[in-house]
Amino acid sequence: MCHHPKTICANEYFFLELLFMILLWLFSNDANGVPLRRSKRGWMWNQFFLLEEYTGTDMQYVGKLHSDGDRGDGSVRYVLTGEGAGTLFKIDEKSGDIHATKRLDREEKAYYILHAKAINRFTNEALEGESEFIIKIHDINDNEPRFTKDPYIATVPEMSEIGTSVIQVTATDADDATYGNSARVVYSILEGQPYFSVDPETGLIKTALPGMDREVKEHYQVVIQAKDMAGQMGGLSGTTTVSITLSDVNDNPPRFTKSLYDFKVPESTELGSAVGVIRANDADINANAEMDYRIIGSDGPGMFDISTNKSTQEGVIVLRKPLDFERKRQYSLRIQVDNVHVSPRFFSMGPFRDEATVKIQVEDVDEPPVFERSSYVMEVKEDAARNTAIGSVSASDPDGVRSPVRYSIDRRTDMDRVFNIHAGNGSVFILRQLDREESAWHNISIIATEFNNPRQISRVPVYIRVLDINDNAPTFATNYETFVCENAKANQRIQTVSATDPDEPVGGHRFFFSLAHEASGKANFSVRDNKDNTAWILTRRNSYNSLQKSTYLVPVVISDGEFPMQSSTNTLTVRVCTCDREGNMKLCNAEALTGRAGLSTGALVAILLCVIILLMIVVLFAALRRQRKKEPLIISKEDVRDNVVSYNDEGGGEEDTQAFDIGTLRNPEAIEESKQRRDIVPETFYPPVRRPAPPPARDNNNGDVRDFINQRLQENDSDPTAPPYDSLATYAYEGNGSVAESLSSLESVTTEGDQDYNYLSEWGPRFKKLADMYGGDDSDRDS
Ligand SMILES: *[C@@H]1O[C@H](CO)[C@@H](O)[C@H](O)[C@H]1NC(C)=O
Ligand SMILES: *[C@@H]1O[C@H](CO)[C@@H](O)[C@H](O)[C@H]1NC(C)=O
Ligand SMILES: *[C@@H]1O[C@H](CO)[C@@H](O)[C@H](O)[C@H]1NC(C)=O
Repeated sequence: MCHHPKTICANEYFFLELLFMILLWLFSNDANGVPLRRSKRGWMWNQFFLLEEYTGTDMQYVGKLHSDGDRGDGSVRYVLTGEGAGTLFKIDEKSGDIHATKRLDREEKAYYILHAKAINRFTNEALEGESEFIIKIHDINDNEPRFTKDPYIATVPEMSEIGTSVIQVTATDADDATYGNSARVVYSILEGQPYFSVDPETGLIKTALPGMDREVKEHYQVVIQAKDMAGQMGGLSGTTTVSITLSDVNDNPPRFTKSLYDFKVPESTELGSAVGVIRANDADINANAEMDYRIIGSDGPGMFDISTNKSTQEGVIVLRKPLDFERKRQYSLRIQVDNVHVSPRFFSMGPFRDEATVKIQVEDVDEPPVFERSSYVMEVKEDAARNTAIGSVSASDPDGVRSPVRYSIDRRTDMDRVFNIHAGNGSVFILRQLDREESAWHNISIIATEFNNPRQISRVPVYIRVLDINDNAPTFATNYETFVCENAKANQRIQTVSATDPDEPVGGHRFFFSLAHEASGKANFSVRDNKDNTAWILTRRNSYNSLQKSTYLVPVVISDGEFPMQSSTNTLTVRVCTCDREGNMKLCNAEALTGRAGLSTGALVAILLCVIILLMIVVLFAALRRQRKKEPLIISKEDVRDNVVSYNDEGGGEEDTQAFDIGTLRNPEAIEESKQRRDIVPETFYPPVRRPAPPPARDNNNGDVRDFINQRLQENDSDPTAPPYDSLATYAYEGNGSVAESLSSLESVTTEGDQDYNYLSEWGPRFKKLADMYGGDDSDRDS
């Protein structure tokens, strides 16, 4: 009937129990303490018991319903309703036997509530009222203990004391804890001894071995068994794995792998770069392996530094001061390493530090030459002669081989090739004349190159200062133009002048002003040196007459106080003007406005030359004209006459000089001609000049003309801006109506030798002088 021994046992229990229940039912109370009366209706049970997990092949018998009214004649029909009726539980209608159709599991459903009826099969009359009863499923130990987790994960510090709690494991059993030992669990350790132990009651795992070392074994797999039936034989069991990791404590000091480290470093190593990396080992991990390196001894103090690379825990040796192979070739450092976080618990194990020696060998590098100084300043007087040596630079190869050095000038810094350098000895020469006033500094760059290795180059800045020599004369600060009133009084100031000098004497300028010596005899102005680098120009007499002399040129000598003394004569142009009583200028001689004062002697000469050339062109032109056409320069005498009349000229005869007026000198023909020749005569050179009216004629004789000519001559002598041919043309016209026809040299060359040179002979010397001055007329006329 039962093949499984447990089931057999359970069934045995069941029958014992059944017996017990019968006794209980017969003699005492029910569970509620209410005395059970024997029912008249005669239900045998109101409670059935059924063993769970029945494994038999036929249906498990539960119990039998029986009514007192059942006479066994088959007239009673038993009906079962409620939980599982008809499916789980079946009843034999006639006998009232109840069977379980399936095997049942208490852990699934512990009891079923059912209802039973007994009815008369033929009358359908209820023999018994419907009655409730319970089928209880009886527990057997069919569930093994189960751990709440699998696996468990736990950590315990290495080197923990014995009995240190690690983790508590728990197993539960689904069987009925209120009945028997089916759910009573006992823990035991299957794997993991002797390191760990488990409390059989609580499941608390503890360390069982002292001094467990993570560095020896870090992970442990512990298997714990839970067994029900209080651990007795036949109990069911479950297991779990507990994965235990030892956590690190700082129980290991750092240790250098070597006692001596060797590094080779080129001397050109840049400051701040690493020259070597050392590493100490520490069996611990993470923070317990953090290290701190220190230099505790060095024969080059301050040369090196060591720091810890936080990610690798390496000691990085860094260069702090420049290396020089030529000075020191090897350094020796004593390095100590410490753990950053130490635990005093392990101090007994010895010092938590280590030491090592680091040797650093400096390697030679071919270095560029080194100048003795970082820059050079040289001074040279601006008047120094070419090829003067102004100083020298010096560089040498710092390397052991001591390569010779070649010098050169960086031409980009000396574009004009002002300087040269002796390639062998570094002497700097000047190649050109210097001018401080042009450039006071020449800042050049000198290159030193190693003879053996031309790629080894250094440069040095050389600042060459040009020292001042007094090589410039002071001049007027500006072009002064001033005037003097006709009614001026003596010793009146008409101008204050100052001077400039491009030289820069050390103590500043000191200028001296004086009137030029040659003018001081019959000077009309005086110069007063104010001794503050200015001077006053003063009048020397009482009145000035613009008619007498319209412009004065006052030569002022300015000299500096330096050595060698430099001086210059500067001309101050003073116009004579009419003024009101307050001395305000009213009317000035226009001539002075032409800016003549501004013209230098050179410009005057240039203008004069131009005039001469122009004159020659005119002469040439006239000669050509004469060849082409025998017509005189002035075509119509009537025209001229008209002009003369219109200018109020009384006569035109050769003796008529009475009405000689400046206006009559203006020949319209000549003006026409000058207009035609505009392209030849640059307008700017000869701006229209207004001349003052000549003084009124004193008498009618030739003296007037002489005076006039004198004045013109004088003016022309001193005024190159006045076109000279203009005056000559005037004479040509004047002579038109006379016997002489023309006095002009131009006209005279147009006519053959039958001229009467009356006037010419009379004025001869002066006219000749005029002609000579403008060149070549005499020869032309002579031809
Ligand atoms: C360098 O050599 C040049 C030419 O031989 C000579 O004039 C100069 O004095 C030398 N300079 C030095 C510093 O010796
Ligand atoms: C050259 O150097 C001097 C001194 O440093 C400086 O005063 C001067 O301005 C510089 N001149 C030029 C042209 O760079
Ligand atoms: C001073 O003025 C007079 C007449 O005005 C003149 O003759 C003389 O040449 C002048 N002196 C100088 C130095 O210009």
